[in-house]
Amino acid sequence: MTFSQWLGERVPTLLRPSILLFIAAYHFVMTMLEVVFLDWRPFTLFNITKLRFKAFARLWKNNGQAMSAEMPGPTFQLLSECKGVVLDIGPGSGEMLSRFNPKLITALYGAEPAEDLHPGLVRNAEKVGFGSRFHALLCGAEPKSLIPELHKSGILDVGGKAGLASDGVFDEICCTRVLCGVPHPAQTVKGLYNLLKPGGRMVVCEHVVNPWRTEGRILARLMQIVYTFLGWPFFMGGCALQRHTPEYLRDAGEWEKFDLKYYGPEDAIPFVVGELVKKGGSLDKSYAAAVKE
Ligand SMILES: C[S@@+](CC[C@H](N)C(=O)[O-])C[C@H]1O[C@@H](n2cnc3c(N)ncnc32)[C@H](O)[C@@H]1O
Repeated sequence: MTFSQWLGERVPTLLRPSILLFIAAYHFVMTMLEVVFLDWRPFTLFNITKLRFKAFARLWKNNGQAMSAEMPGPTFQLLSECKGVVLDIGPGSGEMLSRFNPKLITALYGAEPAEDLHPGLVRNAEKVGFGSRFHALLCGAEPKSLIPELHKSGILDVGGKAGLASDGVFDEICCTRVLCGVPHPAQTVKGLYNLLKPGGRMVVCEHVVNPWRTEGRILARLMQIVYTFLGWPFFMGGCALQRHTPEYLRDAGEWEKFDLKYYGPEDAIPFVVGELVKKGGSLDKSYAAAVKE
């Protein structure tokens, strides 16, 4: 590859996040102005966590749909195969809901901590046809936030064991573009593992730290550090560019299947996409075949 070819191909993928960072900073400033001059709640400015969720919700409401038209690798295919009782972590305003097949899903729980995204989320669930099978939970993925909401929703037994033991309650858990933003990722991912039934599947589509030692690129890895210093996590609702999500997933517990592949490993925002099946149950391939028929 010549230098000019390299410039043409690689540089845009390294610089693209700067556009998103700029847009996120704009929404952060607009949110601050809104809480002061529209909502007349200037004290919200001192609640940084709330402000960041609000700003991210504003960004997502304006750009989420466009940012969801295409997803890396087999993400849409994997979502379309979800079946049974499903937990969708951080569904936003439900841009991915239309990728599920409602005929295969008996109940869908969406754990979304950004309150401002809930009206859109519920609307989209209705539009796709989930009706009363959709349960919007106002909480994050971290156990201390998620487990009480699951209790309230009634899916966990009284005195619930799912947050603590290895026999969970969900057939599938979907994590699309969300584990980058959860606090205490190792512990949170372990909590999600515990909520999966034996043989249950986790669908993953996450951006991660650049794998520069293997198939990635050192320059892309350096750009991740630069964007982090420029305030990426602050303006992007806590999103970490340098997260070792594959390791957290692998260490969460025993998997019968652990199939994650990199997409765009040379980019500043490389993704891993795939499916993981928790050990202890039989692999049910029949539903995937049924979908294709
Ligand atoms: C980039 S959006 C992705 C939305 C959706 N999963 C998708 O792929 O279209 C990230 C979502 O994660 C949510 N989120 C942030 N922190 C979270 C947490 N601790 N637990 C669960 N979701 C969280 C955000 O509010 C936002 O809706």
